[in-house]
Amino acid sequence: MREAGLEVMRDRIGNLFGLWRVGAAQAAPLMLGSHIDTVINAGIYDGCYGVLAALEVVEALRAAGLAPERPLLVAAFTNEEGVRYAPDMMGSLVYAGGLDVAAALATIGTDGTVLGEELARTGQAGPHEPGFLRPWAYLELHIEQGPILAHEGVPIGAVENLQGISWQRVTIEGVANHAGTTPMALRQDAGHAAARVVTFLRERAARDAAPAVATVGCMAFTPNAINVIPSRAVFTVDLRDPDAARLRAAEEELARFLETLAAEEGVSISTEHLARFEPVVFDPVLVATIEDAAAARGLRARRMTSGAGHDAQMIARLCPAAMIFVPSRDGISHNPREYTAPAALEAGANLLLDVSRRLTATG
Ligand code: GLV
Ligand code: MN
Ligand code: MN
Repeated sequence: MREAGLEVMRDRIGNLFGLWRVGAAQAAPLMLGSHIDTVINAGIYDGCYGVLAALEVVEALRAAGLAPERPLLVAAFTNEEGVRYAPDMMGSLVYAGGLDVAAALATIGTDGTVLGEELARTGQAGPHEPGFLRPWAYLELHIEQGPILAHEGVPIGAVENLQGISWQRVTIEGVANHAGTTPMALRQDAGHAAARVVTFLRERAARDAAPAVATVGCMAFTPNAINVIPSRAVFTVDLRDPDAARLRAAEEELARFLETLAAEEGVSISTEHLARFEPVVFDPVLVATIEDAAAARGLRARRMTSGAGHDAQMIARLCPAAMIFVPSRDGISHNPREYTAPAALEAGANLLLDVSRRLTATG
């Protein structure tokens, strides 16, 4: 960012910004960005692509001697993934005023660390109050992370909405007992109860034709020994649906299932919400601008719903926002096999450039 001539700033939650003060310097900036944190054992494109492409837009404009009518702001938001510290999209959520910065900084990680201390220790905590620069509009370029564009051979996704996300941690308490001596009917097996939740979620999601998805991504048994019936199972539930009412219905059905399960299995069950975000509809004018700009470049585009969470859904609380997707090979993401061909990455970055030019009357 410094090499690109940007003014580099960080806010208290560690969001990183590079500001190009250009055009009407007091005007609210066009913000372009994404995130550079990753999941465990991640691919290299998720997030980084959008930040690097934003930087590339600035560099391309400067190299061409073009001056936007308003400032450009490159953003890399903290902790988009939320793997170590929940909720996800934390940096952009705090930036948009949806979570108090002090509460976010006090978040305890999966490794027992405190986010605020880790940000300070790693030199990522800055002096600015989150939200200190209010964007005029926000664009985020990202890999699709799903199979649709690759399957259809379409190079560009104009993302018009993003599904709601519900994260919970479920704790099931049973009774540890001997694996060899305890008859099956007399067990209070937290592990078996947890397994029933996994299959319930899967079968429920498969039952209706709705695009609802459900995932149990983490599970830990106590005492975690081959010959001991688990006394405790702790696991996460990730529920998503583009429809707010259906997402709520899924949560309610899970809650009812857990009540029945507790009675049937002789276990006690508690739940804790880790993240809860309603579906988001992106700005229709920006989405149409993305489509028009793609057409002008001879790139086919299709409208789509984002299955993944993105910082754009938080920044949409502050200003008009939209996203551009490029294809993911085999629809693979959150995996080192994540891949998008260089030409496809370049096409997306060029489109980000074109849309930015249209929005900022760059000449
Ligand atoms: C972020 O990648 C998410 O959708 O969980
Ligand atoms: Mn991402
Ligand atoms: Mn991700």
